[in-house]
Amino acid sequence: MSDRTVNIGLSLGADICWPICYETLFDQLKLDFELDGRRLAFTCERVTIEPFNLRQPVKYDVVIDRLTHWYSVSREWIKKAILLNDLYVYNNPWSLQSNEKHTSYAAMMRLGLPVPDTWMLPAKSYDPSDDLEPTLRQYARMFSLEEIGDQIGYPFFMKPYHGGGWKGVTKIDDADGFHRAYDASGTEIMNLQVAILPHDWFVRCVGLGPQTRKVNYDPGAPLHDRYRLDIDFLSAEDQSVLEDMTLTINAFFGWDFNSCEALRRDGIWHPIDFANACPDSQVTSLHYHFPWLIKANLRWSIFAAATGRPMRKNMDWAPFYEVADRDLPPREKLREYARIAHERYETEKFREFCRTRLGHLDELAYSFFGSPTMRDAIHQKVTSLFPAHEVDEFTELFWGRVQLWREQEGAAGDQDGF
Ligand SMILES: Nc1ncnc2c1ncn2[C@@H]1O[C@H](COP(=O)(O)OP(=O)(O)O)[C@@H](O)[C@H]1O
Ligand SMILES: [Mg+2]
Repeated sequence: MSDRTVNIGLSLGADICWPICYETLFDQLKLDFELDGRRLAFTCERVTIEPFNLRQPVKYDVVIDRLTHWYSVSREWIKKAILLNDLYVYNNPWSLQSNEKHTSYAAMMRLGLPVPDTWMLPAKSYDPSDDLEPTLRQYARMFSLEEIGDQIGYPFFMKPYHGGGWKGVTKIDDADGFHRAYDASGTEIMNLQVAILPHDWFVRCVGLGPQTRKVNYDPGAPLHDRYRLDIDFLSAEDQSVLEDMTLTINAFFGWDFNSCEALRRDGIWHPIDFANACPDSQVTSLHYHFPWLIKANLRWSIFAAATGRPMRKNMDWAPFYEVADRDLPPREKLREYARIAHERYETEKFREFCRTRLGHLDELAYSFFGSPTMRDAIHQKVTSLFPAHEVDEFTELFWGRVQLWREQEGAAGDQDGF
């Protein structure tokens, strides 16, 4: 008999592959243990979408959410469930809704991270509204693109201030290109950002709770090749900087699952795109790195659910600002921010939980990722994305990369030591 059943909900959209893997391994873990004097049983199910009374109870301890980006009913259900029912959700939904890429640049500049200089431009055109004409006539100042371009220096990047998955990002090489891109930007509000070019490394560091994975990233490659297969390509100090940076950003904004893109030039890591809460989790993008994600996801969700981890409803930025205002060298400040992040992610308690309650995950995962269920999950995902004549070829490609992970890493446990 258990004293408490812990229930984890998956709030899904078009996801295919990762829930299959998550659920299969969740079952195989056969979780059943005592924590703080209570016997715990565990279940996991998919969250359905239906009408709800705001006062009705919520049966989940934790929800892993993929929908709040764009599906308002789920987002509002989640917000009410946090406020009324003490639900824990991956990624604070208020933070997700209000902190766009532009805000994330501003905040991390204030903390002293080497975000490249960034401007914002008023939109080129506007949707009509009653007050628009008097507002612009009185207050909008004429400006010269040439002057702004000269101040920033070419090349720079023009990109929508709210991010948006590669849409509308342009490298601007000269004044003519600047005019063309601005004219084409329409009602979109744009950031202009100094280019970190050339750079010697482009890394996408994925954070899930206190766990991180640094992936060599090639933005110019086709989607299935962007995440490179390299491991051990960074020095310990480079890894530590990326980890501290990613955890700082994620803890600051209340994100459990986010990725930080950073470019290294002259030994300095410049973060350029780090408001990506709930990043791509598909085996067709992550392939070699996919098993890490599934394992990290299982660990963090089970930990949060079992320990009744409270959801941080407010951002509480003051401790970060206190560090920012201290007279410390940049690397020391970053370490201090990361210390706050580790406190918020309860890293030590989590590490201990993984060691004592989830020690069997490595072995189960090693064998699961070589199983017919895994192969079928890849096949299903590939079938949904690729033309029929490419399905076999790409299923084989991704399967092979997952097997490579098993050979190189799977048997040994995860590099980030959880
Ligand atoms: N400041 C920059 N320096 C160098 N390359 C950049 C910079 N900003 C953007 N890029 C390039 O443009 C791509 C898309 O920009 P990014 O800010 O990542 O937008 P998105 O939110 O669409 O991913 C990046 O992956 C990178 O290749
Ligand atoms: Mg990006």
